[in-house]
Amino acid sequence: MSTGQHTLPDLPYPYDGLEPYISRQIMELHHKKHHQTYVNALNAAEQAYAKTTTPKERIALQAALKFNGGGHINHSLFWRNLAPSASEKKGNGGALRDGPLKSAIYENWGSLDAFKKEFNTTTAGIQGSGWGWLGYNPATRKLEIVTTANQDPLLTHVPIIGVDIWEHAFYLQYLNVKADYLKAIWQVINFEEAETRYAEATGAHKL
Ligand SMILES: [Fe+2]
Repeated sequence: MSTGQHTLPDLPYPYDGLEPYISRQIMELHHKKHHQTYVNALNAAEQAYAKTTTPKERIALQAALKFNGGGHINHSLFWRNLAPSASEKKGNGGALRDGPLKSAIYENWGSLDAFKKEFNTTTAGIQGSGWGWLGYNPATRKLEIVTTANQDPLLTHVPIIGVDIWEHAFYLQYLNVKADYLKAIWQVINFEEAETRYAEATGAHKL
């Protein structure tokens, strides 16, 4: 993609598609306002970068590129790793079918519930804003639960599942009770998307 030409991707489901677990109000604001702002600011930073003539000018833009570039990457990934819930008979969200990903989760954590529990405990421990990840470590060839701060994208692992822990992702529905948001999100996690990412990660053995 050429400099400063990033665009907001469409959601793969309607704004109310993740209800009752994630409200339409949150999804509309999160996608149309928050993600759009990262896209606009990334484009502005890239356009400014293209006009720089000195290292000092380029260094001055690093923080904006990282923050807004990470915000765009992370949210683009996040929308695709959510899906309308199978428990509401609306889609495949929350359903982990038999396959290599399920086998790897069971191998590492013993059960899906044990994995979710560790993921939620680790992710709830993020101080301030950040992201919780199930990532594939290409060095150890294992799945690991990791976190990143702010809008830092996951670079050490291949992202399999990412969960947005910014207050804008849950506050309007769950207020300050992050644990309830983290419990609910598993009802709308798109494990089929996660399976595809896991297959690509393990097939390539590279970042
Ligand atoms: Fe967000």
